Amino acid sequence: MKKYKILIIHGPNLLLLGTREKQVYGTATLPEINKSLAKLAVELNAELKIVQSNNEGNLVDSIGTLGVNWADGILINPAAYTHTSIAIRDAIAAANIPAVEVHLSNIYARDSFRHTSYIAPIAIGQITGFGIESYTLGLRALISRLSKSAKSRGKK
Ligand code: DQA
Repeated sequence: MKKYKILIIHGPNLLLLGTREKQVYGTATLPEINKSLAKLAVELNAELKIVQSNNEGNLVDSIGTLGVNWADGILINPAAYTHTSIAIRDAIAAANIPAVEVHLSNIYARDSFRHTSYIAPIAIGQITGFGIESYTLGLRALISRLSKSAKSRGKK
């Protein structure tokens, strides 16, 4: 079984999870989320590199280096940049590998400015509203897509 390399990206303010708007985002901290992803990665035979930044340029740089040269897929919670960042969208499109967009909260049940995602059209899918499970469901979906694409390539 191939070991897939997954770049996990956490956008701005996600370092504050655990204390930030608990009624919206729940009580899990970012280290706890990363721990459950690391545990799942063992089960799914995936290798993770995890990046968090509050800075759009740093996120673009990580996608442009690790996304382009290292990863097989990207799992991203772009946080507020979901709704504003053409630069992050272009970086993911340039990396040309499958990306899954995740959100802890249901962005469609919140302020109207959160209903638009610049990332969704270039992602293979979006998981929104399941709290910490959005990340684990997203990682499962990404690995499943990668292994299915590998199988269908093998048949050709
Ligand atoms: C978020 C939703 C965004 O609208 C918000 O700006 C965030 C977190 C989520 O995970 O629910 O920072 O991406």
